[in-house]
Amino acid sequence: MQPTHDTVLVVDFGAQYAQLIARRVREARVYSEIVSRTSPLSDLLARRPVGIIFSGGPASVHVDAAPSIDAAVYDAGLPILGICYGAQLLARDLGGTVERTGGGEYGRTVMTRTDAASLVLDPVAAEQIVWMSHGDAITAAPDGFVVTAGSPGAPIAALEDRARGLYGVQFHPEVAHTERGQDVLRAFLFDACGARPTWTHSSIIDDAVGEVRAQVGRERVICGLSGGVDSAVAAALVHKAVGDQLTCVFVDTGLLRLGEAEQVEDTFRRQFAVDLVHVKAADRFLGALAGVTEPEAKRKIIGETFIRVFEEVARDLSDAHFLVQGTLYPDIVESGGGDNATIKSHHNVGGLPEDMDFELVEPLRNLFKDEVRAVGEELGLPEDIVWRQPFPGPGLAVRIIGEITPERLEILRQADHIVVDEIHRAGLYRDIWQSFAVLPAVRTVGVMGDGRTYEYPVVIRAVTSEDAMTADWARLPHDLLERMASRIINEVPGINRVAYDITSKPPGTIEWE
Ligand code: XMP
Repeated sequence: MQPTHDTVLVVDFGAQYAQLIARRVREARVYSEIVSRTSPLSDLLARRPVGIIFSGGPASVHVDAAPSIDAAVYDAGLPILGICYGAQLLARDLGGTVERTGGGEYGRTVMTRTDAASLVLDPVAAEQIVWMSHGDAITAAPDGFVVTAGSPGAPIAALEDRARGLYGVQFHPEVAHTERGQDVLRAFLFDACGARPTWTHSSIIDDAVGEVRAQVGRERVICGLSGGVDSAVAAALVHKAVGDQLTCVFVDTGLLRLGEAEQVEDTFRRQFAVDLVHVKAADRFLGALAGVTEPEAKRKIIGETFIRVFEEVARDLSDAHFLVQGTLYPDIVESGGGDNATIKSHHNVGGLPEDMDFELVEPLRNLFKDEVRAVGEELGLPEDIVWRQPFPGPGLAVRIIGEITPERLEILRQADHIVVDEIHRAGLYRDIWQSFAVLPAVRTVGVMGDGRTYEYPVVIRAVTSEDAMTADWARLPHDLLERMASRIINEVPGINRVAYDITSKPPGTIEWE
């Protein structure tokens, strides 16, 4: 809990809706936490919220064991906003009617205001474009409520009882497709709840720095750096908190992208003056991988070698009791930890031996990814690190099909650099979830100049995604693909053909191994 900030709780009624709502609330600079609908009401109230939002969810209030909440919540004297399923639940619990009308609404919908004044809806616009996703509809409002809007499939698309501070909207104000959706949330937060917008990036940093100092005291701390955004921001925050009590460990596996190790050196050793142990372990990793072609065997070898290397360094820093981890808020919510006041913070990490039992420092555990990036920018980390696309732990090893050799790594590294460079030049880097090159284990015939060639192809992979669980192949412009292909063939010796992967996930995966 963040006692210094006004808190709005989002009660999770299922699916992914709750996280997006909490992010939008925080975008309005109000601190928000997700709580389970099964948490006892006393636990919710103990967090001293200034308001509560019920999320949407995939269920119907009519099914057996429909998700519900302790009805005493309505008597707690707190403003409540029900969204979609949350609005139906609120209406049903307070004596209104929710029916399976047979005419659900999905997607873009025109909502029309009634004559009744509304605290949360736009005071001027008679019509508003909203995003709907519902099968059931509220057909009668509970006593004391006024109906403030309707749509073709939702006779009651918005309702409120301002005296009791209760609000319901059938549409989803949290999604970008709802015009002025953020204004609905802001009106609820500021006008209904009277929340103060104190959750700013600098307050996030101040809070995290204070917590790290209180946890760590004068002890030594270790932080593994991967080159990715989470570990980089975690390290920068801990460094701001405890300065030279922090030692960062960067293991160069030899499986990294072009320039990655240099960038970590530049940023952490030179710019931030962090005590950095740079372990150059490429020979060790490549030695362990020699002759290995099976994807899972590669992963296992890399994982084990990584732990051994890290363990050796950690033993040299034997006076360190704390290990930094870049755990994010969604990891905690998804593991069910969002409900627990204390989350397990002392355990053996990532396969390190029992006698190296670190206490974890998790400075990002309250933050969403977009907040991590904003904090990284505020702390002065370079854009290339803050906005870096995800990169798998085993690195380029799972993008080289077949055996990993220094020569094939060099080919892939050069081709990958061109793909990413061209995506940057086209201004698409932040819109694309991941873009990279893959090196298959086949050779094909080509012709260059007067001669026949027999060399490797490179496959370009670029996908859009929200969370890597599903992904679509990116519709890159043809001229961009052409530029990538011609640069790869002209600049990277050993490549004579370029292909573009147009497989979505499922059925494909994002990586090739
Ligand atoms: P797939 O290929 O399963 O990848 O669609 C989903 C996401 O996970 C990343 N990925 C990994 N990350 N270790 C990691 O840390 C791994 O072994 C690994 N394999 C895949 C991948 O880059 C994508 O973002």
